[in-house]
Amino acid sequence: MLSDEFGREVSGVRISLTDRCNFDCVYCHNEGLGDTRGPMDPQDDEMSADDVVRFLEVVEEFGVEKAKFTGGEPMLRQDLEEIIERTPDSMETSLTTNGTFLPGRAEALVDAGLDRVNVSQDALDPQEFRELTKSGGYDDVIEGVQAAVDAGLTPVKLNMVVFEATAGYVPEMVEHVAENDGLQLQLIEYMPELAGRPEWAVDIERVHGWLEEQADRVEQREMHGRQRYWIDGGMVEVVDPVGNESFCANCHRVRVTHQGYLKGCLNRNDDLRTMGEMTKEEIREAYREVVANRVPYYGEYMVRDEDDEWVVNEKYLGMPADAD
Ligand code: GTP
Ligand code: 5AD
Ligand code: SF4
Repeated sequence: MLSDEFGREVSGVRISLTDRCNFDCVYCHNEGLGDTRGPMDPQDDEMSADDVVRFLEVVEEFGVEKAKFTGGEPMLRQDLEEIIERTPDSMETSLTTNGTFLPGRAEALVDAGLDRVNVSQDALDPQEFRELTKSGGYDDVIEGVQAAVDAGLTPVKLNMVVFEATAGYVPEMVEHVAENDGLQLQLIEYMPELAGRPEWAVDIERVHGWLEEQADRVEQREMHGRQRYWIDGGMVEVVDPVGNESFCANCHRVRVTHQGYLKGCLNRNDDLRTMGEMTKEEIREAYREVVANRVPYYGEYMVRDEDDEWVVNEKYLGMPADAD
């Protein structure tokens, strides 16, 4: 596996397959891609299935073990099943989707080899859901989550962005996953940089404090140092890039935009390499360079040691490693 200057091994790739989306969530960071386009026909600038597969075959050589497909809404790609089918067998595949197209397609995704799915669901009430997504589709999402559970993609992670408008829904969402087998909740700290509206941010420490009071058990995941809480039999994970000082120190992913640009960090655009017409050897070179230039984004996690090498600040070391 390749490591960057900060000792962070790259074990996963996060590939945006399109910037098109049928929703218009008020908080959307668009994966750092700029404005999300409406649900229109496939665009010329999107990587083809061949491009995606060629890239995956190259990073497999470097020991990458996980492929996460995102958007926009990745299920707007009609060749998603083909891409998953052609993903190297050694890789775990996961999908982050708004869930509207899961009814009727979840099984085909599993047949193609999909291992896991995360579905955005920020509210249980249809009206609140509509206000957040600026779209209909609530019933499809609920059906989609069920279809994913039925197809065996359990545990299905529900993604909930925690900000001013949703913070009050946390207790009912926690109860929801506790009561429903096959679901987990992922609370995501609102990232204002790419979404604008910094005034919408809430103090994620208060959410941690509340979860801690409710929890029967707490654990830390190696990826991003994410905290996991078990509450009444349900599992809640917190993604807190802004508030968690060890988040970026534990970032093990490289990103690829729908146009085939490689990015060392979600929040940066300073290390792009296009992959469109590249040969495998050119992709290898670009990948090595992007990994070598990765720099953590949030916080002051890295310090220079006596040899002037970058190392993780000692005070952030010592988190229990797990399989993730
Ligand atoms: P799994 O746990 O493997 O399912 O991955 P995940 O939780 O990263 O999946 P998902 O695509 O659902 O992302 C959840 C949230 O984490 C989204 O808001 C992502 O933008 C954010 N996220 C994921 N990776 C990073 C990262 O490296 N940096 C930052 N700042 N945010 C990230
Ligand atoms: N901050 C944090 N998370 C966000 N997401 C979208 N926009 C933001 C933001 N500004 C999350 C959604 C989606 C995932 C891909 O990114 O929950 O599921
Ligand atoms: Fe953005 Fe995802 Fe909402 Fe679409 S579903 S608008 S990509 S957060």
